Amino acid sequence: MIHAVYPGSFDPLHNGHLDVIRRSARIYDRLTVAVLGNVGKRDQMFDTAERLDIIRATVADMAKVDVQSFDGLLADYMSNLGADVIVKGLRAISDFEYELQMAHMNRQLNPRAETTFVMTATRWSYLSSTRVKEIARYGADISRLTPPATVAAVAGKVGPPTRPPGGVG
Ligand code: PNS
Repeated sequence: MIHAVYPGSFDPLHNGHLDVIRRSARIYDRLTVAVLGNVGKRDQMFDTAERLDIIRATVADMAKVDVQSFDGLLADYMSNLGADVIVKGLRAISDFEYELQMAHMNRQLNPRAETTFVMTATRWSYLSSTRVKEIARYGADISRLTPPATVAAVAGKVGPPTRPPGGVG
């Protein structure tokens, strides 16, 4: 039984994350989406409970997937959970350097924790939570980029979109 953990800020969940969740759930027996409690980013839009709610609503029909929050070191959270596999999404080479550092550091802190990578689908390779929040704050429609629970939650923060949807994607 391989229990994998997909950690992240998920502020908020977008289609790139969802792609990684779906594909990881096909590989592993159990997948815990682990939401970092204290994000500490300047542009944070959602508190922990809100981020959990969005993800739980989105993965409700995925039997293998559960959603939790964590604080402190991922390496320690992995030990407490008894999980050995970390899943990360890779969008581009530019993600790799940062992820490689984290993978080595996590392995140093918890030698049982093995980091694995899922290459984000090309169609979502330009997506990030930061960009989603930025365009939503300017009134852009994000319904092609994020699941419905994110669309509703973001609208609750910044209001409904004020410009028409984009053309591709
Ligand atoms: O979605 P993000 O912001 O890229 O996710 C980053 C995350 C949550 C995976 C990373 O910041 C993390 O694991 N934080 C927990 C603290 C920790 O273990 N830091 C050392 C990592 S080597």
